[in-house]
Amino acid sequence: VIDIRKLYGNTGRFTFDPGFTSTAACESKITYIDGDQGVLLHRGYPIEQLAEQSSFLEVAYLLLNGELPNQKEHDEFRYLITRHTMVHEQLATFYRGFRRDAHPMAIMCGVVGALSAFYHDSTDIHDPQQRTIACHRLIAKMPTIAAMAYKYSVGQPFLYPDNSLSYTGNFLRMTFGVPAEPYVINPVVEDALDKIFILHADHEQNASTSTVRLAGSSGANPFACIAAGIACLWGPAHGGANEAALEMLREIGRPERIPEFVARAKNKDDPFRLMGFGHRVYKNYDPRAKVLGEAATKVLDTLGISDPVLDTARELERVALSDDYFIEKKLYPNVDFYSGIILSAIGFPTSMFTALFALARTTGWIAQWTEMMEDKEQKIGRPRQLYTGHGPRDYVPLAQRG
Ligand code: ACO
Repeated sequence: VIDIRKLYGNTGRFTFDPGFTSTAACESKITYIDGDQGVLLHRGYPIEQLAEQSSFLEVAYLLLNGELPNQKEHDEFRYLITRHTMVHEQLATFYRGFRRDAHPMAIMCGVVGALSAFYHDSTDIHDPQQRTIACHRLIAKMPTIAAMAYKYSVGQPFLYPDNSLSYTGNFLRMTFGVPAEPYVINPVVEDALDKIFILHADHEQNASTSTVRLAGSSGANPFACIAAGIACLWGPAHGGANEAALEMLREIGRPERIPEFVARAKNKDDPFRLMGFGHRVYKNYDPRAKVLGEAATKVLDTLGISDPVLDTARELERVALSDDYFIEKKLYPNVDFYSGIILSAIGFPTSMFTALFALARTTGWIAQWTEMMEDKEQKIGRPRQLYTGHGPRDYVPLAQRG
């Protein structure tokens, strides 16, 4: 490899850090993670306390505004969010352009990006008031958009939001309710899904959040930025892992087959990985996985579901955590390991899992985007590269090339 920069007399220094394993690209006051200790704080509050005691809307307010809301602030925020839950009627036509078997994430990328074509009064990124409206619109409309993607896939009519319900209750009704029939919300299901939303709300500079910030750094409007985040989240190494984890657990099928899959995960020549295991930052138990492991048992017990997948998951966790390979590489269950089991028990098809992640993560994305837009020192994100291609050479006309 030649160092072409030297040829041009360039002696400036830069850091070569593939995958940004140790490079901070921004300052942030939103989320703190200590991967070695398994700590996750939002604005200083431990995730376990938020998951146990607060609601998703409270956490959304906290991420956006820096403090937990008092009662008045909470009620005002709830009012603002519920005011924006409907989507433009013409968006229903947009959905009809997709194939019925389209992946919900494909629909979400398109529909969320298209919001900028409908809400021109919240795309001026230099106007703080318009930025705030965009934040509220995105948080409010994501459940409607995700529920419509589901309804479209099963061929049922879209349901308008019911703003008398909680954020999560309304989403459950729009997804599983049918017109002219009352939909009874199971409080254990509502609580578990709300917890899942809280646990997925933000996770500092992960791939999709960095994508949102990078897109936003060029001055793109917030709807376009969130659409970029959704695209990045879709991958199986990121948000797509919950779908992949449940599929893997189903493929394993029963605890006796675990050694075979663990052996495959350890085999360097086999691309197979234990989905829902390992994390770029957590080199200890992901605190979110702990909360969800407990919630999974509660939901399945309440719904009277005896799913062998949960036994398989528990046994896989036990085997992996006592295996030298996983101990040495510090691979622990991550947030995706148990979430799929809960979502499946509630009735969501696996194809919806990542869409639900996108719904929840929108609050983190938009809070991070807002923080960046408020930073007067903010620059366009522009990573450098280590060039390893040809040195300079002369052009050869087409006729003379062999
Ligand atoms: N199963 C088996 N081996 C694994 C796993 C796994 N799930 N994860 C990592 N490893 C091994 C790698 O093969 C590698 O081994 P090596 O050092 O011998 O080459 C080593 O552990 C380090 O792995 P990297 O891929 O380099 O670690 P990185 O930090 O880049 O990746 C990631 C983290 C992508 C999450 C990885 O652990 C993975 O692919 N896990 C499965 C997918 C998953 O669950 N993703 C969800 C992440 S959480 C989220 O996005 C919400």
